[in-house]
Amino acid sequence: MSKHVPVITIDGPSGTGKGTITQLLAQHLGWHLLDSGALYRVVAVGIEKNNILINEINKICEFAGAMEVAFGTEFEGSITLNGNEISHLARLEETAEKASKVAAIGELRAVLLQRQRDFCRPPGLVADGRDMGTVVFPSADLKIYLTASAEERAQRRYKQLINKGVGVNLRDLLQDIASRDERDANRQVSPLRPADDAVVIDTTSLTIDQVLEKVLIKVEDTVTPDQ
Ligand code: DC
Repeated sequence: MSKHVPVITIDGPSGTGKGTITQLLAQHLGWHLLDSGALYRVVAVGIEKNNILINEINKICEFAGAMEVAFGTEFEGSITLNGNEISHLARLEETAEKASKVAAIGELRAVLLQRQRDFCRPPGLVADGRDMGTVVFPSADLKIYLTASAEERAQRRYKQLINKGVGVNLRDLLQDIASRDERDANRQVSPLRPADDAVVIDTTSLTIDQVLEKVLIKVEDTVTPDQ
């Protein structure tokens, strides 16, 4: 029998601090990290570069099945697609918008399923996404679902982008976030929702350190380390 590799899933909409919490937790535990949203972003960049349209589902799946993707060690680090550095493109708001559209294609989600599961290697995995606890790792040891009000999430994203020197308008950002939430939550396949056994944490009025503290308490209570 193969040895149990522990998995912690961190799901929720964007701007809830998921990425940061996932990174801090993976570092703290010394575990692997899966940023599943980055895979959908990579597909969005890849189809754009290859002039594949959003309704050309077979071509999208063929591309995603064959693409070679490598992530740097840091969450904010490099992303290469078929040998080309695309991290800047992958993090653009336009890419997030397109990623949300490709993510609604059930056939594509099926193509990416095993690729995501392959990230589960000893000593453990912290997986960040929308359907980590519901579909990709349904028997995860601990499932966290982070929420926050749309206004707070737009504010956070606004500050992030301004700090990066990207000019944005807060109202447009709020509208984009609300429409992506709507699409992610209402799609037919793997909609954004907490797993029945997820621990839901509202981060609206919490700092990252406060969220991490709450998550670590749950980790100590529930996760069996790989020995
Ligand atoms: O987390 P992110 O913003 O990088 O995700 C980009 C898009 O991909 C987002 O609109 C939702 C989608 N996504 C998804 O459908 N399932 C995942 N596991 C991760 C992301």
